[in-house]
Amino acid sequence: MKGIIFNELQKMVTVSLGADAWEALLEQTPLETEGGGFIGPQTYPDKDLFALVGTASRVTGKPVDELVRSFGKFLFPDLARLYPGFLKPGMTAKSFLTTVHDVIHVEVRKLHPDVELPRFRYEDPAPNQLVMLYDSPRQLCELAIGLVEGVADHFHETIALVQTQCTKRGDPVCRLELTFGAAG
Ligand code: HEM
Repeated sequence: MKGIIFNELQKMVTVSLGADAWEALLEQTPLETEGGGFIGPQTYPDKDLFALVGTASRVTGKPVDELVRSFGKFLFPDLARLYPGFLKPGMTAKSFLTTVHDVIHVEVRKLHPDVELPRFRYEDPAPNQLVMLYDSPRQLCELAIGLVEGVADHFHETIALVQTQCTKRGDPVCRLELTFGAAG
């Protein structure tokens, strides 16, 4: 996973748990990356990210899935800022989300050829609905859900999300069924 993702985790931990919390987390987590000095453009083992989230879960008493989801929501505004140009005038939350696989992640791969990105497929059952089929060996559907929450906030829309399938329960993909509405 790219260093920027670790940097964002550090930022979220610092914002929510205080200035010393990240150092404390590094001290309590056995890492492959010596000293835990993660630099944005470099790539680090996924194992280290999962280990840090595991420690954060023990420290806060919050389930890993809940933390990963909150992280996705926290991450989206910064991703959007760091990679300007993907949010185009006139887009809606739905039209934006349909570009994640074939436009955004394709461009991200051009910039960083060593990224490992998930696969999304889409179904478009109705104008106010979208089904996102998420598939990745990392099994980070909770991150995708948190990112969708961040997208809803960005566009001032509501997105009701129901997950009907999950690879962690043995299903072939994670199925996220989204229904869009105007924020009240
Ligand atoms: C401006 C928008 C976005 C940018 C620039 C972006 C970029 C990235 C980058 C750099 C990574 C890290 C890959 C790595 O380190 O190997 C990533 C991973 C990921 N992205 Fe995006 N992304 C964007 C929006 C989204 C949205 C809206 C979703 C979901 C709805 C999404 C789903 C994911 C997931 C789930 C991963 C984790 C990797 C995995 O599951 O295997 N992304 N993205």
